[in-house]
Amino acid sequence: MRAVPRRWTQERRHDPYYRAAQREGLRSRASFKLIQLQDRFHLIPVGASVLDLGASPGGWSLVARELVGKEGRVTAVDQRSFEPLEGVEFFRGRVGSPELAARLAGHRYDAVLSDMSPSISGNYSTDHARSIDLVRSALALALTVLEPRGTFVAKVFDGDMTRDLLHEARPFFLTVTLSKPGASRGRSSEIYLIARGFRSRSTQGVEA
Ligand SMILES: C[S@@+](CC[C@H](N)C(=O)[O-])C[C@H]1O[C@@H](n2cnc3c(N)ncnc32)[C@H](O)[C@@H]1O
Repeated sequence: MRAVPRRWTQERRHDPYYRAAQREGLRSRASFKLIQLQDRFHLIPVGASVLDLGASPGGWSLVARELVGKEGRVTAVDQRSFEPLEGVEFFRGRVGSPELAARLAGHRYDAVLSDMSPSISGNYSTDHARSIDLVRSALALALTVLEPRGTFVAKVFDGDMTRDLLHEARPFFLTVTLSKPGASRGRSSEIYLIARGFRSRSTQGVEA
């Protein structure tokens, strides 16, 4: 088995979010990114229905479940397996595939979250382009399942195509912005697209 690079173990030992995630029984340090985005933007109200794309190992789903409470609903999707989490429904599938789109057809969500990461090549332009493609797939799916005034949140590896992505999302939402939560490592290019106030087809001027 390949040894984990020593740098990673040292980084983890000094990473307050990693230690806090372990202490608080969270599934991943990524949980803190959603907690911080929630604090700032109030993305997920009590009672909401949430679709969490790229959900494994479940850090965001766990936070979403706590936020929505008993009246709410959380559906997690990932192409990888997902250790069962009480109160969270899981669909295994690939975002961007017609099979997943068909499975979710007819469902409605107040918030669609995507923390999906592409497989990393190490080449910055390639990884940026792959990340943009993933966000486009998540956005396309979100447009079919969001409730009017709903919210879309997606991780993107920032780069020269981010601006195009914002332009593509803007017509569908009242506000679209970018945010980097404190728990996101400074040296990482990841940033979150926050789109709020989904305009239903009728308010976009498109016949339903
Ligand atoms: C950074 S992890 C998500 C961490 C998660 N938000 C948490 O808090 O535990 C990224 C996930 O995206 C998933 N992923 C990447 N591309 C995907 C796709 N096209 N469809 C479904 N899942 C995808 C990966 O399998 C991986 O589990």
